[in-house]
Amino acid sequence: MAEICGEELQTDHIQFSWDFIDPWWPEESRKRIAARFRQAFTEHGVSIDCTFGGNAAYAFPHLLAPDKDQRGIAFEYFKRAADLTLELGSSVMGSPAGTYSVSDSKDPGRKEELYQEMIEALFSLADYGKSVGLTQIQIEATPLLNEEPHDIEGSLRLMKSLEGSAIPIRLLLDWGHALFKPLLGEEADMGVWMKTCGPYIGAMHLQQTDGLWDEHWDFTHPEGMLTAESIKKATHEGGLDDVYQYLEIVPRYEEFSENVLDGMKRTMDYLRS
Ligand SMILES: [Fe+2]
Repeated sequence: MAEICGEELQTDHIQFSWDFIDPWWPEESRKRIAARFRQAFTEHGVSIDCTFGGNAAYAFPHLLAPDKDQRGIAFEYFKRAADLTLELGSSVMGSPAGTYSVSDSKDPGRKEELYQEMIEALFSLADYGKSVGLTQIQIEATPLLNEEPHDIEGSLRLMKSLEGSAIPIRLLLDWGHALFKPLLGEEADMGVWMKTCGPYIGAMHLQQTDGLWDEHWDFTHPEGMLTAESIKKATHEGGLDDVYQYLEIVPRYEEFSENVLDGMKRTMDYLRS
């Protein structure tokens, strides 16, 4: 993987997904595997800027789970992810924070109770992160009503609620999520997101989208609404030229590897053009 990133995709900065190393794996084995990944990326001149929850992690409701034991496990999981991050030589980790159950989502009092518990957990995670050498935590805004945060107002509320944490907690903005019209309507506008949440944005996920589904296409897809030019223009106008944007392409599981890699290469060439 390091060779693909460094030589074939010719990138020198990556965000490392927990899909490659599960933070739950037994500590000693996990450390050995992380050391091998770390060495390989170093050999290919690639910096692991940060680590992030992937598809496997996203399947769980984490800090907003209906069951208290599940929420406790989520906190422990994120602590292990902080450990993994340091093992990989990085000091920034991130993830979506959590999902309400359908029944909890219909009970405003219960939702608020869980929300406040999530805030407390994130403060505690920042305390733990600082103690092990983490420098930043990033929370991703997702395009689902039952998740926090999922819109501009909620993202701003979350970021303000987390001010004063032991290490900065920032927002990770995903193009496909921010432009998801069925949920956000008129607010599905990257300019508005950047203008409102700009100072809190720690990193971004780049994906091609049609604005109607959270597609995570590469940039060869003919129905995509984004162009390299429109991304650069919006980013510049939002004053976020210095913020790293990481490709987050999610092909179909059945897609042939050769096609996935070809699409990624062409995407990188296109975005660099
Ligand atoms: Fe994302």
